[in-house]
Amino acid sequence: MALAARLWSFLLWGRGATPRGPWLTTGTLGSRGRCGSWRFRGSKVMGNPGTFKRGLLFSALSYLGFGTCQVTPQAAVVHATGKVEEILEQADYLYESGETEKLYQLLTQYKESEDAELLWRLARASRDIAQLSRTPEEEKKLLVYEALEYAKRALEKNESSFAAHKWYAICLSDVGDYEGIKVKIANAYIIKEHFEKAIELNPKDATSIHLMGIWCYTFAEMPWYQRRIAKMLFATPPNSTYEEALGYFHRAEQVDPNFYSKNLLLLGKTYLKLHNKKLAAFWLLRAKDYPAHTEEDKQIQTEAAQLLTGFSDKN
Ligand SMILES: *[C@@H]1O[C@H](CO)[C@@H](O)[C@H](O)[C@H]1NC(C)=O
Ligand SMILES: *[C@@H]1O[C@H](CO)[C@@H](O)[C@H](O)[C@H]1NC(C)=O
Repeated sequence: MALAARLWSFLLWGRGATPRGPWLTTGTLGSRGRCGSWRFRGSKVMGNPGTFKRGLLFSALSYLGFGTCQVTPQAAVVHATGKVEEILEQADYLYESGETEKLYQLLTQYKESEDAELLWRLARASRDIAQLSRTPEEEKKLLVYEALEYAKRALEKNESSFAAHKWYAICLSDVGDYEGIKVKIANAYIIKEHFEKAIELNPKDATSIHLMGIWCYTFAEMPWYQRRIAKMLFATPPNSTYEEALGYFHRAEQVDPNFYSKNLLLLGKTYLKLHNKKLAAFWLLRAKDYPAHTEEDKQIQTEAAQLLTGFSDKN
């Protein structure tokens, strides 16, 4: 059950603008293990008990043969809610099974939905399709913007949904591939805000915390010439430090130990940037030994191994 849903591309600088390790361009997050249960929890949090009760009420009413005029308005509501729950369950199953195209086909049928839970899943599915290598370039672009639209609507429908905030931030980061530098930088602030909000709403979501760490790492690492451009465009260009990034990667690990090979790698890389070889080695070893379930895990193993040889040579 290996699923590669690229979670995050690059927040700011365009494809190939700066050479980076494979982890940055193919950032994926497998659907296995705890990440799966996070999604499950996400879908379960929403209105399930209520639906259940209303569902019961409705069947009781029809069983007792209440008049149709009394039941009908209630019935419409019950039916709609019940159906959303069913679609979400089906959608989560398809997502877990890595059935990207089927999932997209299922959810686009409901693109006029007003349900935030359904809409953010549709946003995620659209961007997953965009990332398939067989999707033609022109379609990718359409899908990426479409995904952003859905995520935006999900947010409009429910500002308290952490997943809506998280996917809005991720989708906004995706459209950066097609935008000029000014828009990208402007979006970077918005992306940060929404990751922060997602974490505030669900402090147990390790992936949002990890992505916030990536955000910090990206801006801590920003080369001087890019910083200079950013400074010309904005009075206070987004910036961060490796210490700040480290805080998020550690926090993600605390919330959900060993949830993601890339978080281990980034802990190692951040310690390297901070010249702490001992701790860098500790985390890189863990990244290297992480059981590979996805393509990305394998790339991360390789990168961790390379980094480890790199500095054992110097010692
Ligand atoms: C919005 O999302 C939150 C968290 O998932 C949920 O508790 C709440 O019921 C949702 N509100 C609406 C109006 O759907
Ligand atoms: C970001 O830059 C501003 C000045 O440009 C500085 O005052 C601030 O400390 C920086 N923040 C971080 C996290 O480096």
